[in-house]
Amino acid sequence: MNRIFSGVQPSGNLHLGNYLGAIRNFVALQKDFDCIYCVVDQHAITLWQDPEVLRQRTREVTAGYLAAGIDPKTSVIFNQSQVAAHSQLAWVFNCVTRIGWLNRMTQFKDKAGKNREKASSGLYVYPNLMAADILVYKATHVPVGEDQKQHLELTRDIAQKFNNDYGVEYFPIVEPLIQGTATRVMSLRDGSKKMSSSDPSDAARINMTDDADTVAKKIRRATSDSDLLPDSSAIGADGQFTAAFREARPEAANLLTIYAALTDRGLTDVVDGFAGKGFADFKKELTDVAVASLGQMGEEMKRMVEDSQYVDSILREGAERARAIAQPIIDEVYDIVGFLRP
Ligand code: TRP
Repeated sequence: MNRIFSGVQPSGNLHLGNYLGAIRNFVALQKDFDCIYCVVDQHAITLWQDPEVLRQRTREVTAGYLAAGIDPKTSVIFNQSQVAAHSQLAWVFNCVTRIGWLNRMTQFKDKAGKNREKASSGLYVYPNLMAADILVYKATHVPVGEDQKQHLELTRDIAQKFNNDYGVEYFPIVEPLIQGTATRVMSLRDGSKKMSSSDPSDAARINMTDDADTVAKKIRRATSDSDLLPDSSAIGADGQFTAAFREARPEAANLLTIYAALTDRGLTDVVDGFAGKGFADFKKELTDVAVASLGQMGEEMKRMVEDSQYVDSILREGAERARAIAQPIIDEVYDIVGFLRP
């Protein structure tokens, strides 16, 4: 049986990069798979989080899932800390993963920065908890962005080593699902930087909670360049902009990619349509499609965040369903490892 698992950290504002790179794909996958979508609050505290803000952001990610169209009746939506099996399996994996494997993780190096001695030990073993998230449901497919591919490789290594060490065929070897045109959405102010919730300038990103006017204003003010829009010679054999084009005109590449993703059209088709036009015309059309798809979602999210009882009830029910799947698996793992459960 195929099962999807994925997670989003409640550690910053949800923005267009989260939506186009992740959440929108989660919605589409519900058609073909059993899906479990988690708000990974335990991962969030690997970096300092103010408790009140963490609570609020956990509700915000949940509202984002719901507003984007994840159906809580078919898919399971919950926050990680409510299901103890994640931590229980993570401990077992702390004892399976080799330190050498963790030392190769580029995300740890990026997030720990120069002062590694001061990073939390949770940040270091973060990938083991992520592997536990996935494998405690024996998920087979994991939709993630490019930046999480290395962690998924590690998840495969952990599953393999566990199976090997204990002489079992227990955990599946998961497959990453990397889809969609705009897996990488860049900053509206500087097209060479990723759109990020930690960017000090709010104008650099479109937040999922932005209303229609804010979305329109941010697109109008987005950095552009003075050339006309390119023709399809800017697109490579893989259907994406060539590295040379992205380097020369990062803002044009980013905005056109966003347009293609929001309209669900191929990039070549979109580029052909705007070739030779100026940014002003293009931005008008981009504003229309962005407002149409994001404006309404933002308003719905805001309504839901204000109704915390509804959001909390979704998380409570989701956690119950998640526990029902994870508990038999953690029981079997404990038996395999040799933990007594008298
Ligand atoms: N590490 C992921 C991120 O930062 C979030 C995450 C945690 C996750 N556990 C997961 C993603 C399991 C997929 C599957 O984006």
